[in-house]
Amino acid sequence: MEYVISFTLEDNIAVIAIDSPPVNALGLAVRRGLVDAITRAEKDGAKAALIYAEGRTFPAGADIREFGKAPQPPSLPDVCARIEESDLLVVVAIHGTALGGGLEVALGADYRIAAPGSRVGLPEVLIGLLPGAGGTQRLPRLIGVEKAIGVITSGRQVGAAEALELGIIDRIEDGKPRETGLAYVREMLAQDAPRRPIRAMQAPAPVDFDAAYDAALKKARGQISPPYAVRGIQAACELGFDDGMARERALFRELMETDQRAALIHAFFGERAVSNLPELKGVAPRPVANVGIIGGGTMGAGIATAALLAGLDVVLLEMTVDAAAAAKARIVKNISGAQKRGKIDQAHFDHLTGTALKLSTDYDALAQVDLVIEAVFENMSVKKQVFARLDAVCKPGAVLATNTSYLDVNEIAAATSRPEDVIGLHFFSPAHVMKLLEVVVADRTAADVVATGFALGKRLGKVSVRAGVCDGFIGNRILLAYRTAADHMVLDGASPFQIDRVMRAFGFAMGPFQVGDLAGLDIGWATRKRLAPTRDPRERVPTYVDKLCEQGHLGQKTGLGYYIYGDGVPKENPEVLALIEAERKALGITPRDFSDEEILRRYMCAMVNESARVVGEGIARRPLDVDMVFLTGYGFPRYRGGPMKWADMDGLARILDDINTFAKADPYFWQPAPLLADLVTEGKAFDDLNKET
Ligand code: 3HC
Ligand code: NAI
Repeated sequence: MEYVISFTLEDNIAVIAIDSPPVNALGLAVRRGLVDAITRAEKDGAKAALIYAEGRTFPAGADIREFGKAPQPPSLPDVCARIEESDLLVVVAIHGTALGGGLEVALGADYRIAAPGSRVGLPEVLIGLLPGAGGTQRLPRLIGVEKAIGVITSGRQVGAAEALELGIIDRIEDGKPRETGLAYVREMLAQDAPRRPIRAMQAPAPVDFDAAYDAALKKARGQISPPYAVRGIQAACELGFDDGMARERALFRELMETDQRAALIHAFFGERAVSNLPELKGVAPRPVANVGIIGGGTMGAGIATAALLAGLDVVLLEMTVDAAAAAKARIVKNISGAQKRGKIDQAHFDHLTGTALKLSTDYDALAQVDLVIEAVFENMSVKKQVFARLDAVCKPGAVLATNTSYLDVNEIAAATSRPEDVIGLHFFSPAHVMKLLEVVVADRTAADVVATGFALGKRLGKVSVRAGVCDGFIGNRILLAYRTAADHMVLDGASPFQIDRVMRAFGFAMGPFQVGDLAGLDIGWATRKRLAPTRDPRERVPTYVDKLCEQGHLGQKTGLGYYIYGDGVPKENPEVLALIEAERKALGITPRDFSDEEILRRYMCAMVNESARVVGEGIARRPLDVDMVFLTGYGFPRYRGGPMKWADMDGLARILDDINTFAKADPYFWQPAPLLADLVTEGKAFDDLNKET
């Protein structure tokens, strides 16, 4: 077994260092090493022990890669108990992030000291679990029930200052953890400080746990780990320490077996795997210190905001001086939002909205930028003109990116003499908030331009997913398919409001018609018009919404769409039902009832089928890439893992069966994706394709 714990004796203090890169996760070797080190410290006659970590962080948790494998002793709860029950005075020195099992180890100690920038937390609920090594038992004893519920059910990382205030740590000290930790131990020994095992602390006073459970369930929109954690904390109040630990263990084991846990861990590793691409291996990105942005509307202003907040200088080009002023006003509004949330101070605000941001109406201003992102109107001839101008003014080697939602990036690249420098960088609205960036790789895009797209995404804090060129790339193409399935259901008898309700109950933040109102009904209207000339006559497209658009009702931005927006909760718009009824009549459709279950099946089958096509055609490299697009850009419930993970768990054969059943009435729309049919024949899952790369 690898050597991951080092042990030295300094006077009468055992110095125990964890060294297991990259994040000192508490895998088997670390757990064994910690127990051995405590035993050795006791044998060697030490009076106290210091536990700290080498490298970038104190342990960031249990080793997630071990989940699902046969557990090997010592378990993490036993390690924490071993530390807590030792007669030694144990101090932990934290730096980086003491998370999950890492913080639980620290809670096994008598005292905790932390470096100023460090963060602590119990993020287990975020991967579908609850703290399983005493976190639900020790934290409430240390900081009280209400605060423990807040920390544990949110899974949030708590900064050192707040951790001190809450009483999770005892001291903040700048310096290397070995040195600050040793000084602290010496001081404690000199003072003859008592041992302070948390298990011996009084059980905290209970609260209304049923109410806390309901609140956690509601907040998590169907995710069960936060309410389970409430039950764990309840046990700390109602049972003795040992029985409480047993209860925590039982709840932990139960969660470990759930699809939600599998889905959330898929999401955790998926977000990291998306940028792990063979084509990027050994390819250095081009340096980017500043960016040019063309068009300062909704998207351009959002992208400029994200770039500025990431420390990049921005040159923004608009058509007129007035449009430039309006763009600046949007950016200033966004950045003052960051200031209000305490992310930046006044001096930083002044810099970002002053020196770091230049506005212009002249292309020459873009001559020296390292990367340009075009965000003008969604119109091919306008985009081509813009790229021809960029080709003329930009320095050699500048990356030329388009934020187009649907248009052919190859055609845009062909408007320049340097198609190898052209790429799609598809942000999502609001661009300074949404995590997703689709990096659209055209036929001739150079590898280092792809690498630059990913490097920029990382710098902006995005989850970047590689996409190939097609109408709508990964996300919007799949969206069109399931939105079409929803539209068909409306034509045949379902109401948009019922569909929205069903999809919210599934865990989406919003249903598809609410999303339509939010994005603007004119977007779908434009898509319908764009696709009309090439549309197959067998395709069924409802046009009732066009009538709202023609009257100037475009959704939220005009106060009226599927819903009526005013003060308070939006109301269903009855006019929509009348328009639908009229269209059904005109088409000779007798409406029928749809059960919630049928709505869900049709919606999800359409989504999965188109996802399979997108992977089969190589537009997305792996199923996990599709999943990450949906989790980070389309409000898909994270605890369901994304459409392809959900499909694996639901069973691909069942989905194919449903598609074949739906195809009996509409064989044109419900054509099974070849990849889906092949996987069912081979008895494989989408996840098998994730493992191949
Ligand atoms: N187990 C195994 N591997 C882990 C890990 C863990 N707990 N945490 C991170 N890693 C791996 C990542 O997969 C990544 O591997 P890669 O380089 O091969 O892709 C590498 O460590 C570095 O991680 P990041 O890329 O995420 O690095 P960052 O610096 O961006 O973030 C972090 C560091 C904040 C620690 C982040 O990784 C994180 O949040 N980790 C998970 C924390 C967590 O959920 N802990 C709870 C675990 S469950 C538990 O403890 C159960 C217990 O209660 C019994
Ligand atoms: P918008 O209409 O809000 O803004 C476009 C801006 O571009 C306007 O301010 C306009 O003055 C400016 N502009 C137009 N032609 C120009 C030119 N030749 N030179 C300089 N400036 C010019 O549009 P929005 O929503 O910001 O969309 C921009 C692009 O981003 C489109 O390609 C769209 O498809 C894409 N996109 C939009 C998303 C959205 O949710 N709105 C999401 C992702 C991509």
